[in-house]
Amino acid sequence: MTHLTKHLWINGQWTETQTYYELHAPYDRQLIANIAKADASHVQVAIDGAHRAASVMRARPAYERAAILAKVALLLQARREEMARLCAMEAGKPIRAARAEIDRTITTYQFAAEEAKRIYGETIPMDAAPGGSNRLGMTWREPLGIVVAITPFNFPFNLVAHKLGPAFAAGNTVVLKPANQTPLSALAIAELFDEAGLPAGALHVLTGSGRELSDELLRDERVRKVTFTGSPEVGKAIKSKAGLRKVTLELGSNSALIIEPDTNIPNIIERCVDGAFAYAGQVCISLQRIYVHEHVYDEFCERFIAQTAQLRVGDPLEEETDISTMIHTHEVDRIEEWVQEAIAQGARIGCGGQRDGSAWEPTVLLDVTPEMSVSCKETFAPVVSIVKYRELDDAIALTNDSAYGLNIGIYTSNIDRAFYAARALEAGAVIINDIPTFRLDHMPYGGVKDSGYGREGVKYAVEEMTELKFVSIRLNT
Ligand code: SIN
Repeated sequence: MTHLTKHLWINGQWTETQTYYELHAPYDRQLIANIAKADASHVQVAIDGAHRAASVMRARPAYERAAILAKVALLLQARREEMARLCAMEAGKPIRAARAEIDRTITTYQFAAEEAKRIYGETIPMDAAPGGSNRLGMTWREPLGIVVAITPFNFPFNLVAHKLGPAFAAGNTVVLKPANQTPLSALAIAELFDEAGLPAGALHVLTGSGRELSDELLRDERVRKVTFTGSPEVGKAIKSKAGLRKVTLELGSNSALIIEPDTNIPNIIERCVDGAFAYAGQVCISLQRIYVHEHVYDEFCERFIAQTAQLRVGDPLEEETDISTMIHTHEVDRIEEWVQEAIAQGARIGCGGQRDGSAWEPTVLLDVTPEMSVSCKETFAPVVSIVKYRELDDAIALTNDSAYGLNIGIYTSNIDRAFYAARALEAGAVIINDIPTFRLDHMPYGGVKDSGYGREGVKYAVEEMTELKFVSIRLNT
């Protein structure tokens, strides 16, 4: 296979650098590309460019910003298969899941195009307070200027879209630092934005470096906002360096699902297996802990394990593959250690529990206790635990006994119990009668506790990427 050399995208042009790194496919370690490594000098050029372009973007009317975003959605639609294969190759995502990600990405850019046209303010009844008579008051939402976006490997198209879409809808400029494992998706999107007419300098893509690059980006006071998806550890470091700038942090979770005794078990098995194992569990809202009422526990375990055993592990580019590689072999080492530790502490394997090349077999663990790493930490791997409970309050307490709180699911046909749980659960979202892995791209999305800070979901991200300005007029008549 011939491989590419990819440079940085700065000021609407490819920019060569002194050093490049080799990008290998996670599945078979094949060399895919040589990728430019940005350094501090590139950060300065990119921020200078983004600063100049900020006034251009701010002056662009909403309908033009919307047209650019809508065009990107169309271009992506036209190149859907090519982009899905790129995603499958560099992220090791099974091709059917990669296509689904491209479809979601198109929707995200379409939502961003629509949101660009409805960035509303409100009028304030000034005469509600003494001294307010004969005055009009209103709010406007204005772009912030430069947004730094730092994105993860697991949804290299759609999580980039969740940053670029709202940022451009709101009239900002962006310096994007994609994950080192998935730079090609971000660079491909930069080309589509260029083709769609985004002003040069409104988007810069700096690849190839880690925390030093993020630190350098945060040193520049012209950066007005940082939006990050990744680990709590890095998220906290970013927040501590961000000073008074706005910050959005989408961090991890060990998402749980509660299954009440009135649930039709056969109906939910496929959905639960998908939630636990899609993209090898490398999803922030992957189903990691399942709490099942004792009356339906045996039936659920039997059916869930049987369905899991049917999953096909293999090459991400093959149509039949359900589960493929993990992103790095050291992640396989880590999960092997956690599973061994759980077994040593009394857990039992329901199925799986072995390496399979660069993949980890879809694994079901039983008799898991809350202090085991596979329960209390984020596994980010195809490993799920099933735990029996007797009272709903116990299941809620077990679910809330977590450092995280992103999405939580509950299956029940009892509306009172559903809403009782929804109020008691500590999370950014409670998903009733579905898995916590459920997400549509216009939903508010974000967590509490170590799961993050702020909300995405295009409209909500636009709010976080704009500044509210109040304007008052005193009338002379
Ligand atoms: C994430 O892993 O943070 C995103 C999950 C999704 O968009 O489905």
